[in-house]
Amino acid sequence: MSHFHFQNNELFVEQVSARQLAADYGTPCYVYSRAALETNYNNFQSAFHNQQHMICYSVKANSNIAVLNLLARLGSGFDIVSGGELERVLRAGGDPGKIVFSGVGKLPDEIQRALEVGIRCFNVESEAELLLIHNIAAAKNMLAPVSLRVNPDVDPQTHAYIATGLRENKFGISGERILETYRVAEDLAHIEIVGVDCHIGSQLTDLGPFQEALKTCLEIVDTLAADGISIQHIDMGGGLGVRYREETPPTIEEYAAAIKQMIGHRNMELIFEPGRYIAANAGILLTRISYLKDNDLKHFAIVDAAMNDLLRPSLYNAWQNVIATVQSNQTPGVYDIVGPVCETSDFLAKERSLAIQSGDLLAIESCGAYGFVMSSNYNSRNRAPEIIVDGHDVYVVRQRETIDMQLALESLLPE
Ligand code: LLP
Repeated sequence: MSHFHFQNNELFVEQVSARQLAADYGTPCYVYSRAALETNYNNFQSAFHNQQHMICYSVKANSNIAVLNLLARLGSGFDIVSGGELERVLRAGGDPGKIVFSGVGKLPDEIQRALEVGIRCFNVESEAELLLIHNIAAAKNMLAPVSLRVNPDVDPQTHAYIATGLRENKFGISGERILETYRVAEDLAHIEIVGVDCHIGSQLTDLGPFQEALKTCLEIVDTLAADGISIQHIDMGGGLGVRYREETPPTIEEYAAAIKQMIGHRNMELIFEPGRYIAANAGILLTRISYLKDNDLKHFAIVDAAMNDLLRPSLYNAWQNVIATVQSNQTPGVYDIVGPVCETSDFLAKERSLAIQSGDLLAIESCGAYGFVMSSNYNSRNRAPEIIVDGHDVYVVRQRETIDMQLALESLLPE
């Protein structure tokens, strides 16, 4: 995380100290580095420079419109999974012609809106969805571009909650049924087959599962070609893992080399839907220690961020690095970092060796993806602000919520 570094024993985000950010904007707060976001995108882009491809950043990872806008300015497309994400991309200046729409439960009004704005492709996950898209397109006398998402039944070796390409998962169409579903699609007048799609899971740290999934996609492409159905693109989904701790995910160059080798000289465009790779290590969550507390067995650092701000540790037992923003040479203690929420599952980190005191500022690393987007108002806590640092400049791209904002949609019953 070179855009996050220590200078005179103090953590800096680009050219701005964490201390200054916390003083100016309060804690907890999410801080993203513009340069980190852009570098991650550009690295992905350059790894595939000699291969027809399109990056469709997966909006769910971090959907702040400023983040989407920065990526749109670099030419990124977008992978969306809801009407809400579609509107965010449009407001952020994204090109509708570079949007792919994934997800098992697309609703009629979402499909209609996506058709109207002219998205690049629907990633279709069932025959029933295919027929619904066809009916909506027929009523508008339009042609809906589709890929079918195959479930290749490969084990991505990741947390069970974020594995999506196993036979028992709700995602995609099984290898046994995918060809007949393509044949159904071929006979529908308002459907245009454009691609084959897969996404087997998130935070993958091995190339093998990606290669297996691509092999399945290529077999489908070849079988369809023999039937006279031609495919213009393969969508590889997202899923490339990042380093939170000791993981050793493939580098983007290794990932690209493995895929390019399998594509060879085929005239085939590839679509990628990275989320975590672009955003995770471009953000941190700043939080201040309210109290240190000991019981007979443990030391706790009670901080002002909680599971409602960062759900990954509670939900997936995810490990994210926690650092003191000022380096000290005191002897460290071993602490559980916990929030104020009334649940034992409200922890951000367990058993971390830290030299800290009450009032200290901590940074939780790798929070740029699946951080703010999974936050909630549980315990009626106001959601944290989001800040982008660009060199010496600081931009608040989402304000801290207020209690009035939280209550704005609620009302009392009449007397
Ligand atoms: N495409 C599709 C169809 C997806 O479902 C996902 C993620 C992505 C792309 C992007 O995957 P990525 O490149 O970010 O791995 N909340 C979880 C992660 C859930 C991922 C869901 N789908 C976490 O915090 O680990």
